[in-house]
Amino acid sequence: MGSDQKRNWEQDVEKTINRFPERKETFTTSSDIEVERLYLPEEENAKYDEKLGFPGQYPYTRGIQPTMYRSRFWTMRQYAGFGSAKETNKRFRYLLDQGQTGLSVAFDLPTQIGYDSDDPMSEGEVGKVGVAIDTLKDMEDLFAEIPLDKVSTSMTINAPASVLLCMYIAVGEKQGVSQEKLTGTIQNDILKEYIARGTYIYPPKPSMRLITNIFEYCQQNVPKFNTISISGYHIREAGSTAVQEVAFTLANGMAYVDAALENGLEIDRFAPRLAFFFNAHNNFLEEIAKFRAARRIWAKIMKNHYGAKNPKSWKLRFHTQTGGSTLTAQQPDNNIVRVTLQALAAVLGGTQSLHTNSRDEALALPTEESARIALRTQQIIAHESGVADTVDPLGGSYYLEQLTDKIEAEVETYIEKIKEYGGAVQAVEEGYMQREIHQAAYDAQKNIESEEDIVVGLNKFQIEEEFDPDLLKVDEELEFNQKQSLQKAKEDRDEEKVQNALDKLKQAAKTEDENLIPYILAAVKVYASIGEICNVMRNEFGEYIG
Ligand code: 3HC
Repeated sequence: MGSDQKRNWEQDVEKTINRFPERKETFTTSSDIEVERLYLPEEENAKYDEKLGFPGQYPYTRGIQPTMYRSRFWTMRQYAGFGSAKETNKRFRYLLDQGQTGLSVAFDLPTQIGYDSDDPMSEGEVGKVGVAIDTLKDMEDLFAEIPLDKVSTSMTINAPASVLLCMYIAVGEKQGVSQEKLTGTIQNDILKEYIARGTYIYPPKPSMRLITNIFEYCQQNVPKFNTISISGYHIREAGSTAVQEVAFTLANGMAYVDAALENGLEIDRFAPRLAFFFNAHNNFLEEIAKFRAARRIWAKIMKNHYGAKNPKSWKLRFHTQTGGSTLTAQQPDNNIVRVTLQALAAVLGGTQSLHTNSRDEALALPTEESARIALRTQQIIAHESGVADTVDPLGGSYYLEQLTDKIEAEVETYIEKIKEYGGAVQAVEEGYMQREIHQAAYDAQKNIESEEDIVVGLNKFQIEEEFDPDLLKVDEELEFNQKQSLQKAKEDRDEEKVQNALDKLKQAAKTEDENLIPYILAAVKVYASIGEICNVMRNEFGEYIG
């Protein structure tokens, strides 16, 4: 490694330590052997400089920060949400009290697809897979006693991302927190919804407009907010391989960059706030190699393909969730072991933020006890395993580095193939990625059924067992109560102001180029509901039929 690069890294370390001092003066093992900040090959070699480099330096293979977790652990950010805003607020405050360091909101399906709780389409789904949000009143309840200038919040919302972002800004204002101070992430990734997850509303063109409207609005007004979480998680959950997960996610990332550039945005202004979201699956070492390869590929794409100049544009910052589809309903406690290995892979792969699944999630939303064990899993890895005490501890492993190279090569082959379609949007419309994923999912399932691949407790080492009756149950009264509270919110608001705001949004949506965020913000502030706002845009944009 060139002495210049080492010197640059050492300067970066000094700068970083001012803002984020390392957690200890010195780090030692149980035998009192000092643990160095970073381990390097004994002799200089050009391959190291080109392929690995230093943490916090291009191409970031070893991590995006010069000191990584020696300064600051990854954010422990548990995805949570069910029932009413008040119930979810209680779970949020419980998890924060138990030591989690970031919030992550799960919304119910009606909210995710832009329907009010009293819409016939919402029947039976209100509050089921996440929290029910209809108006700003619900968002105020969701964040009651949680200071938005002290915590960062991720929101898993895509088609109506603009509406929930505006509600979050409005809650901040009510708390006296200006939008410039808000930190967090909006998932805002519609392409993977068309590919794998399904919570889309509008066709690609208006969807991409709303996404880049958020990029533009936030770079001007909410500069600390991550404007998109380009997700591979759900692509993997749909059955893709690790290589496909990275390839399709980065190809989607390129489509968002292209759309922003086409809308006249400057790459070094919006790119630093692009974020990613990956799965941590079962093959421990492949997952670690996958994360390292993804960082290096994205750095090369942004620097060489797009010509971005700001190093913050080159850094792939990502959140990880352990693989939900790997959890078994059989012998649920075994899932604690699976999640531990997957979480460890995410940490050794350099994640910035992490959600660990609960043991019972193959059966229901997690109980409080299961959610606590999931959080404790992260805390034990952080405080007891020692893996956070030196940067990229597995770097240099013969197997890991060659596997990282191999994954990188196969991802780049896929990206070239997607370019032949004209990019990710066209590849999605052609069904290319979907076909590749379905084939991979079919092959994986065949291997389990043939016992080629063993899933402990499922196709080997089974036992006779009763399922745990203590699963979380969502209050059956919830749907009725939510409709009542929506009705009350509508009675309490100034109807003329609502209609006026919705009409202005409609006029703006009719134009091709107006940024719709200010109109949506004005509508949420007068308690227009998510359904009313999304329906104005349904009428203008139509709906996507997947
Ligand atoms: N040295 C120097 N600086 C450091 C540092 C270190 N070691 N560690 C952190 N920092 C700095 C960072 O640079 C950042 O500062 P900046 O904003 O000024 O750059 C600050 O400290 C916060 O650190 P991070 O940004 O790394 O951590 P966050 O947790 O705030 O952000 C993220 C992480 C990945 C960038 C962000 O996008 C995020 O939190 N994503 C979460 C997404 C999420 O939770 N998704 C859940 C989806 S659930 C779902 O979809 C699945 C369902 O459908 C089943």
